[in-house]
Amino acid sequence: MKKKTIIISSIVAIIVIVSISIYFYLKHINSTEYKLTKLGYTKDETKEIIKLTSKTQVNEILNKEYDKNIIVLLKEKYFIWKNLDNYLAYYKENETKSSSDIISIINVKANNEWYTNYVSADISKKELMLVNKFHQLSNDFEPENNVNIKNWYAYDNNSCEDFVYQAFINMHNDAKKENITLIINSSYRSYQEQEETYDTNLKAHGKDYADKFAAHPGFSEHQTGLALDIMSTGTDRYNFEESDAFKWLQENAHKYGFILRYPKDKEYLTGYDYESWHYRYVGVETATKVKEKNITYDEYYAYYLDN
Ligand code: DAL
Ligand code: ZN
Repeated sequence: MKKKTIIISSIVAIIVIVSISIYFYLKHINSTEYKLTKLGYTKDETKEIIKLTSKTQVNEILNKEYDKNIIVLLKEKYFIWKNLDNYLAYYKENETKSSSDIISIINVKANNEWYTNYVSADISKKELMLVNKFHQLSNDFEPENNVNIKNWYAYDNNSCEDFVYQAFINMHNDAKKENITLIINSSYRSYQEQEETYDTNLKAHGKDYADKFAAHPGFSEHQTGLALDIMSTGTDRYNFEESDAFKWLQENAHKYGFILRYPKDKEYLTGYDYESWHYRYVGVETATKVKEKNITYDEYYAYYLDN
């Protein structure tokens, strides 16, 4: 009797141990960690991926081949999940670029040829709308309340949205208190006027220059009535950067809702050569954020307004 009890107890114990082992084995081979290591990720990489992604996202990674760049991209500040495949493909072809450049270029679609794969600008975003080489305005788009700008503030025949005018007047008056004169050189331009601007540059300087200096009609911020080309007394476009007026704008423009739209060394993202004179109204809150983050409006829009 005693012997029988021992045998039965032993069998039960073995069954329990085997069952527990099978349970843990199955659990292990079905775990995300195991599946990731099977794909080739190291233990540390696996931990990082799990920390940086949601359950659905990790499942998407499990459906892809091993890619060493995934983790470095996931850690980037402006990483956008829906762009992952594009980041990975572009990184593979451009290994010498930094991961933050890869993120920025893909976010703003600058991996495409300029003026290809463009969409309609989302004009419902009002003063936050993005107009660039990938976001187009219809040829009949006009600002809602375009007002003429007095000669005191601008050269002849300038106009812009009324709230942009008001913001400029405030900025102009405050700058004046510090002996800085801000003058608007160009502002709202209709589709047809932009066509003339582009064609003039094309004829005078050729396509390469024209494309980096003037937008194609329908792709210019000037058509929104939200953009102002600002100069000062005795300056033109080419020496504005050296003026006190430019320095003043660098420090203060955001307080009135304006951002420098085509900064230096960001041509590969904006599609335009550095323009020290071109300011875009986006409102004080957004202008302050764009300045603090030190990113182009194209990058800001992609991450914060279109994500
Ligand atoms: N110069 C700017 C890019 C424009 O033509 O809109
Ligand atoms: Zn301009």
